[in-house]
Amino acid sequence: MFYRQKHLLAIEGLTPPEIGHLLELADSYVLLNRSGKTQRDLLRGRTLINLFFEDSTRTRTSFELAGKRLGADVINMSVSTSSVNKGETLLDTAATLNAMQCDLLVVRHDQSGAPNLLARKVDASVINAGDGTHEHPTQALLDALTIKRRKGRIEGLTVAICGDVLHSRVARSNIHLLTTLGNRVRVVGPPTLLPAGIADLGVSVFHDMKSGLEGADIVMMLRLQKERMTRGLVPSAREYFRFWGLDAAKLAYANDDALIMHPGPMNRGVEIDSAVADHPTRSLIKEQVEMGVAVRMAVLDTLSRGDGRNDV
Ligand code: CP
Repeated sequence: MFYRQKHLLAIEGLTPPEIGHLLELADSYVLLNRSGKTQRDLLRGRTLINLFFEDSTRTRTSFELAGKRLGADVINMSVSTSSVNKGETLLDTAATLNAMQCDLLVVRHDQSGAPNLLARKVDASVINAGDGTHEHPTQALLDALTIKRRKGRIEGLTVAICGDVLHSRVARSNIHLLTTLGNRVRVVGPPTLLPAGIADLGVSVFHDMKSGLEGADIVMMLRLQKERMTRGLVPSAREYFRFWGLDAAKLAYANDDALIMHPGPMNRGVEIDSAVADHPTRSLIKEQVEMGVAVRMAVLDTLSRGDGRNDV
């Protein structure tokens, strides 16, 4: 099986074999990471630059760890202290980094499409680490790996994605990945937080948690993204939690063995109650973080081969 692309900009458009290749390789990196070993020869002499125009804890740190475990030179560019603050444009910033012979450019930006634009202008392989409300492809891959390892498969499952779908790039990437692999995907939330035309992506739409969660194998909660709201879309955090926050009572609507996911960062008491977020057997949230490192190692490994013939 092959992954034939130079960049990873989106899940949309990837084929099942391409996704399968990345998941299979990532699975092998889980074992490597758990053994405490590294593979520092793989990216020796390669440079990875993390270029984050938005805040991040998990994604930026795990790309840094992934790069270092594979032997790359990793630079974390602090946008807040860079010449972006003197008015340098995104493209000029990228051209500057490109001139330093960067091999892998990991980009997070608040504008949808920013990584695609950079990919047309630089020599490096560009990895989308989250762009506006568009996509967050490595998050969907790590979510899929987490599900696959726990459920033993990543097809034929019913996955309920709940909450602020409107502003969620995580939701979009997960919808593309999960439907591509043959899962039943539901989106569950108030009409104000579900994008118009979302059903065209092949999902079922629910406007209450009871019917949305009935029969679900996976309950994936989303953060309420107040920073992207330009007008009041929810009455109050308290009201939101009452109707849409996942607690033990709402989780009981789902299958008895349904698993709980959240990409983080969580707003406890807003979209999720601590008792379910920290559930010792049913919450996958910490495992998602662990899988993030392995998935990013698989992506860096695959793209760094750069010859369009990435055998598993
Ligand atoms: N899930 C996720 O993207 O988290 P960060 O914003 O902390 O990177």
